[in-house]
Amino acid sequence: MGWLQDLHVMAHSTLHRQRGGTHAERLQGYYGPQAAYYDAFRQRLLHGRLPLLRALPLPAGARVLDVGGGTGFLWELAGTRRAELDSLVVLDLCPALLEQARARVSRLGWSNVRVIEGDATLQNWHDKPFDVVVFSYCLTMIPDWFRAIDRAVELLRPGGLVGTTDFYVSRKWPDSGMRRHSAWRRFFWPCWFGWHGLSLNPDHLPYLQSRFDTVHLEESLGRVPYMGGQRAPYYVFVGRSLGRQVNASSPV
Ligand SMILES: C[S@@+](CC[C@H](N)C(=O)[O-])C[C@H]1O[C@@H](n2cnc3c(N)ncnc32)[C@H](O)[C@@H]1O
Repeated sequence: MGWLQDLHVMAHSTLHRQRGGTHAERLQGYYGPQAAYYDAFRQRLLHGRLPLLRALPLPAGARVLDVGGGTGFLWELAGTRRAELDSLVVLDLCPALLEQARARVSRLGWSNVRVIEGDATLQNWHDKPFDVVVFSYCLTMIPDWFRAIDRAVELLRPGGLVGTTDFYVSRKWPDSGMRRHSAWRRFFWPCWFGWHGLSLNPDHLPYLQSRFDTVHLEESLGRVPYMGGQRAPYYVFVGRSLGRQVNASSPV
């Protein structure tokens, strides 16, 4: 990717003020002008996707839902494992990114993939349950993120898996065994990402841990392009469905 395209993406993400009456309109306004360059730039920013694919079992014949799947690039990273799935649904609310996903599906002849436009917090599927639900860098972009997690709990079969990776900051006093970020990190990254329309939240990870049994957890740091070597915190979480429905739909 050339520096001119980088400049285009960065200028748009930095200078663009999110407008629109609905969440979907705001997403379209934000991603529309950069959709064609999304994959190349995000490959150097979304460092959790490969570790997530390494940690997440994707059994042959599984039914998988990729929530906020965007352009569907994750499934190119997954290589031949995608072809072994029974079916994969890429769900997203942004038409510009879904157009890229549909072009990818048709270019690569992915016959087991459906691309669906819809809101992750509202979807009520008739063809549930899924074996695996994935959230790759989308919980920070979903205002009602806890509802999206609750939906995943409802959509998964008992014993099914959720795979999540995203930017985050720790709580000031995290549970023992968890990373504790410095006060500067907990201040800086929510401000920086907030400017770009993402909400980093110290409660994402504890809420996932409260709704699923932890199978795998990684807390790490990844370089942010053009930020002078600054590294932003991200996590990779794989959890197993507890096999019971909980009605509460509120954040921890
Ligand atoms: C940073 S992108 C991540 C895309 C993709 N998962 C990846 O790893 O490249 C966040 C995605 O979440 C989607 N999104 C945000 N809110 C959503 C919602 N309520 N329902 C479905 N998708 C949503 C956005 O449209 C966008 O595609």
